[in-house]
Amino acid sequence: MTPSNLPTPTLADITQPTPLLGGLSPATFMRRHWQKKPLLIRQALPGAQPPLSRSALVELASREDVGARLVQRTPEGGWTLAQGPFPAAQWPALPRRAWTLLVQGVDRHVPAAHELLSRFRFVPDARLDDLMVSYATDGGGVGPHFDSYDVFLLQVSGTRRWRIGRLKEPRLLPGAPLKILQDFEAEEEWLLAPGDMLYLPPRWAHDGVAEGDDCMTCSIGFRAPAEDEFAREVLQRVLDAAQDEAEADAEADDSVRHSARPLYRDPRQPATANPGRIPGAMAEFAEQAVARLMAHPHARACALGEWLSEPAAGTWFEDGEPLREPWPALRLDARARMLYDDRHVFINGESYRAGGRDAALMRQLADQRMLPAVQVGRLSPEALALLDDWTQAGWLRPFSPANSTP
Ligand code: SIN
Ligand code: CO
Repeated sequence: MTPSNLPTPTLADITQPTPLLGGLSPATFMRRHWQKKPLLIRQALPGAQPPLSRSALVELASREDVGARLVQRTPEGGWTLAQGPFPAAQWPALPRRAWTLLVQGVDRHVPAAHELLSRFRFVPDARLDDLMVSYATDGGGVGPHFDSYDVFLLQVSGTRRWRIGRLKEPRLLPGAPLKILQDFEAEEEWLLAPGDMLYLPPRWAHDGVAEGDDCMTCSIGFRAPAEDEFAREVLQRVLDAAQDEAEADAEADDSVRHSARPLYRDPRQPATANPGRIPGAMAEFAEQAVARLMAHPHARACALGEWLSEPAAGTWFEDGEPLREPWPALRLDARARMLYDDRHVFINGESYRAGGRDAALMRQLADQRMLPAVQVGRLSPEALALLDDWTQAGWLRPFSPANSTP
């Protein structure tokens, strides 16, 4: 599949029934199941193939920039957990059965996994986390647990028995190296074969155990940050931006620094017989300072977009060549995150104001993750200069739609 025909959802697509969602359209699936109730889909992807071989997965698990875990059942019925990377020379001695290797972010390294993930772009990219691949031998699994993620569990090789149930008592097994539910009661159970898929909303208890060897499952996970995480990330970024601005002002002109940062003044402070008490005017000044800092919608929007478009931890990009005429078509690197709102575009933790035709073309790039050559040629010189920077940073890559792979 070439990037030009990667499934980028159109209005027609999101209202069209699809085998991927068991004959529901994405629109109906989102209405009936998303965040609400599980859905088992037999043959969501008929003829599904693993996006990578077992040896390629093991190779990925050896890399410093890839998150990998190895989970084993002990003969006594317990669990052990080892964190990667697992260089070839340091592979733990493994029994024949009941272990599983889990590798995060495979979509950032394997084009076929990236393609698989892009089938789920009827959900906003801002919610998307990654595609994890697990490989298990007979009896392997990570035990009954719950996640705070929405997840599509797609079987791509071998078979896995899934048991699921509503989360009643979220009590965890004490002393276990993984979060294992102590009192898991399954309400439903299915054996999934290659091509079958299970959707689970957050906080549904589930337990998947490989039946037979060569069990490979792809988990397409969607993050749902907690309220305090949103607040922390936005506040911290607004604060950092205000500080950068104050420092830049100070460098430009010392007098600006003073005018930009009003000091607390108290010419009406009477003499006090209670010197320990914080003056009411000072408390009010502090409240106003916080409110003023957060009052700028532009600053808050930038902070949110910069946070949500931050690349995954440990991500790095290979430098690219400067853009030259004739302008090529461009596609986003699989590791790059690009989002937008009504006034800004965000890429890999950076924000830009955009308007007019440039904004329309940048949004097209974010939605389709590519921009045809003719559209690149329609950008303003300023926007082209940005795309040139991003190309040199390795976030964008030139490609020729006719003969390239993602
Ligand atoms: C697995 O693939 O083994 C575990 C995935 C999950 O339960 O979230
Ligand atoms: Co899970």
